[in-house]
Amino acid sequence: MKIVFLGHASLFIQTKLATILVDPFISGNELAKDLINIDELKPDYILVTHAHQDHVLDVEQIARQSNATIVSNYEIAGYYEKMGFKTHPMNHGGSWNFDFGKLKYVNAIHTSSFADGTYGGEPGGFILTADEKNIYIAGDTALTMDMKLIPYSYTLDLAVLPIGDNFTMGVDDAVIASDFIDCDTVLGYHYDTFGYIKIDKEEAKKKFAFEDKKLHLLEIGKSILI
Ligand code: NI
Ligand code: MN
Repeated sequence: MKIVFLGHASLFIQTKLATILVDPFISGNELAKDLINIDELKPDYILVTHAHQDHVLDVEQIARQSNATIVSNYEIAGYYEKMGFKTHPMNHGGSWNFDFGKLKYVNAIHTSSFADGTYGGEPGGFILTADEKNIYIAGDTALTMDMKLIPYSYTLDLAVLPIGDNFTMGVDDAVIASDFIDCDTVLGYHYDTFGYIKIDKEEAKKKFAFEDKKLHLLEIGKSILI
């Protein structure tokens, strides 16, 4: 499976059977908008962890041009279904077998409202199972005890964790999270995009390395294979 970092919390995942876009926020991201051409993004699925603008800004355009199925919590799926998009609603603790593999919608501690104030359900993350790999995409979240439930059911090959602090957990809590989920290979996201979440990347890598863990930080447009 190939995971391309599109900046902030946006990922483009290529599995053997489908392409999956996560939390598209590109046209409003000063760091990404000149590097990623959103007109070329034609995923089969768009996963949305929660309704905040820095996760949904480009959902409508990309869903329109790709006819992708939007997978999110019940409220967010309903919001897009009313606009005429194809959707698949989920809720916390539930999983579903798609043509590419399985998704489970899991807890996150955060908030979730659209830019106009519309309720965006409760925020979550996804566990993606495809190509015999398990990936945890945490979404925006605090460190939470619920993360300890994940290794009861999944052996993770990669965890995508927010590390930018202020709006989500920061690096120190992400190191603890990687213990909770029993996964030492982490892709950091949700950092550097805005002033509030600028981090020292080398320091972050050192903190993970000190615990014999690996923190991958990708340049925008670059990918990791698992
Ligand atoms: Ni958020
Ligand atoms: Mn966010």
